[in-house]
Amino acid sequence: MLNPSAKRHKSNKDWMMEHVNDPYVQKAKQEGYRSRAAYKLIEIDTKDKLIKPGSVIVDLGSAPGSWSQVAARKIGNTGRIIAIDLLEMQGMGHVEFIQGDFSEAGPLAQIEAMLVGAKVDLVMSDMLPNMSGVPTIDSARAIYLCELAAEFALAHLKPDGKFLTKAYQGPGYEEFFQQLKKQFKTVASRKPDASRDRSAELFLLASGLK
Ligand SMILES: C[S@@+](CC[C@H](N)C(=O)[O-])C[C@H]1O[C@@H](n2cnc3c(N)ncnc32)[C@H](O)[C@@H]1O
Repeated sequence: MLNPSAKRHKSNKDWMMEHVNDPYVQKAKQEGYRSRAAYKLIEIDTKDKLIKPGSVIVDLGSAPGSWSQVAARKIGNTGRIIAIDLLEMQGMGHVEFIQGDFSEAGPLAQIEAMLVGAKVDLVMSDMLPNMSGVPTIDSARAIYLCELAAEFALAHLKPDGKFLTKAYQGPGYEEFFQQLKKQFKTVASRKPDASRDRSAELFLLASGLK
């Protein structure tokens, strides 16, 4: 039987092998994206046409920046991206970045000040809380971030704007989904190929404020 540290070593090694052999990791390197997550947004955008030239976008949980990169390549010179993350993010054209905690009043006020009253075409959130490994705690934290992102979207989207958020099927998910259905005209779930099958992650796309 493996001792716990040998097990941990083995699972780190398995993760590394999976990461290195992952076709999306290789593609991201070739195409200059900062992470494989780019392909989740590309796939959803190809289907749902979220990002357009001139779009005003707020990217919540943006680091290392691949969703912002995808959006920046499409919005052209008239579009804007305001991005926030707890972690640092390397700058890029068209992206105004705030390093801070979206759940705190200060960084939220900073985003609002940057918008100067402008309404937003797309609020996209890929925020992922620090995982404790305790499923009930992790689900609750993830849903809390979804709720904060939805609250922001409701206050700042254009009437025909869109809200895309990462979510996890677990405690609180169904209530969140039903709440979105009350607030938006359509709510659809998306599980892009780039999102690993074993991950409970999926994306909810809510369109058109009610
Ligand atoms: C999966 S990563 C995002 C990847 C990103 N969409 C990309 O394509 O590069 C999740 C991010 O959410 C951020 N995050 C989690 N909680 C946050 C919070 N309260 N405020 C801001 N960012 C947060 C984490 O720091 C992490 O960088």
